[in-house]
Amino acid sequence: MNGNKKDFPEIAPPSGKLGVLLPGLGAVATTFIAGVEATRRGHGRPIGSLTQMGTIRLGKRTEVRRPLIKEFVPLAELSDLEFGAWDPIPDDGLKSARVAGVLGESDVRQVGEFLSSISPMTAVFSQDYVKKLHGENVKKGKNKRDLAEQLREDIRRFKQEKGCDRLVMVWCASTEVFLSPGPVHQSIEAFEKGLANDDPGIAPSMIYAYASIMEGVPFANGAPNLTVDVPALRELAKEKRVPIGGKDFKTGQTLMKTILAPGLKARMLGLQGWFSTNILGNRDGEVLDDPESFKTKEESKLGVLQYILQPDLYPELYGNIYHKVRINYYPPRGDNKEGWDNIDIIGWLGYPMQIKIDFLCRDSILAAPIVLDLALFLDLAQRAGMSGIQEWLSFYFKSPMAAPGLYPEHDIFIQLTKLKNTLRWLMGEVPITHLGTEYYDDYMREA
Ligand SMILES: NC(=O)c1ccc[n+]([C@@H]2O[C@H](COP(=O)([O-])OP(=O)(O)OC[C@H]3O[C@@H](n4cnc5c(N)ncnc54)[C@H](O)[C@@H]3O)[C@@H](O)[C@H]2O)c1
Repeated sequence: MNGNKKDFPEIAPPSGKLGVLLPGLGAVATTFIAGVEATRRGHGRPIGSLTQMGTIRLGKRTEVRRPLIKEFVPLAELSDLEFGAWDPIPDDGLKSARVAGVLGESDVRQVGEFLSSISPMTAVFSQDYVKKLHGENVKKGKNKRDLAEQLREDIRRFKQEKGCDRLVMVWCASTEVFLSPGPVHQSIEAFEKGLANDDPGIAPSMIYAYASIMEGVPFANGAPNLTVDVPALRELAKEKRVPIGGKDFKTGQTLMKTILAPGLKARMLGLQGWFSTNILGNRDGEVLDDPESFKTKEESKLGVLQYILQPDLYPELYGNIYHKVRINYYPPRGDNKEGWDNIDIIGWLGYPMQIKIDFLCRDSILAAPIVLDLALFLDLAQRAGMSGIQEWLSFYFKSPMAAPGLYPEHDIFIQLTKLKNTLRWLMGEVPITHLGTEYYDDYMREA
């Protein structure tokens, strides 16, 4: 049932091509590109992607209206996607996919020609921010402002060369060293002055985000870096009417945490401790072996339980949790991470119980569909005139950005409800509250 036309935005149609720009052409980016190309050729299925496989219920349960999301909202088609990337390592998409070792050789070979056609543009990169990487495919410039200008030129050139109608940018590059917001991040003016003065508070990822927003290109941050989560860039995004989102793709262990913790809390089971450890051997694992990059990741992973369990509201159940997260670089595993969780819970009369999880996951297999969904949904948001933080996309992030003064929503089930209700609202459908009294009207009248 359509609501009042004035209550929801007009959405421009997704005509023409959508360019997906990726800082970082590593494991996640190549797995994403290879997967889209394999799906386009009918060699693979986009499992894990809500935009491609998910349905949405509309109206009452009795109406039985449940279209695919991609048929309900006007999203770009996979056949209309073009890809571009930057990386300080000059390997093309094919070589990089082989180095990453996520996909088997026969899968890589099937889309090999396509992957090899993607060569990374020279990156804005400095080892000051990612200690464990060495790359030569790097831009030179007089200062950070000059580097931002060079990125803006890359964006414009890519758009023109590929004949794209619209663009989005998704950060798939390494985790940078931990940075706290400082004076240079507080306003657009301070930030632009900092670019000209080479302020060390401005990391490469912020230069990409700045260039993206200045070019009117939506930006999502797949790493835990501060990047676009600072007042200056949030303000710029509002001013330029550009949607933004972050931080850190929600995959693996944190995905499990945000599935399980809401369940424990729903049943008022207490928690004493949650110990999480991982072994992984990909390049991401190597970068995270540096304590400064690990600190950025750790902050992102630790916030989750605090927000879901609300110890301030439930001090008896969650007031004294010991939460620890470790990441261990272990080369033999490559991208096939193993994550162990030991969870000490308490039940009736304080009796202790334990839950163990041993998740043999594939990081980039879980991350690739997130990149696709973010690209398509950010493009939708922009065509619908939405700008600034897209809280409805929290579903995809470990450490979701939220308006200043608002705590982020981590519970994956609330996040999904929020996402789907946003889609309903965008299309003039009634949000679903799950109240359901309408099905029991007779009973209500008798009562
Ligand atoms: N795989 C997952 O499940 C997952 C989940 C959440 C977050 N992430 C984050 O996504 C990012 C990518 O992960 P990955 O496994 O693909 O890592 P990766 O190391 O395979 O790829 C990252 C690439 O980024 C490049 N890079 C580094 N700095 C750059 C810069 N300034 N500009 C352009 N390129 C740059 C590196 O050279 C590398 O090729 C990491 O930050 C990771 O923490 C991954």
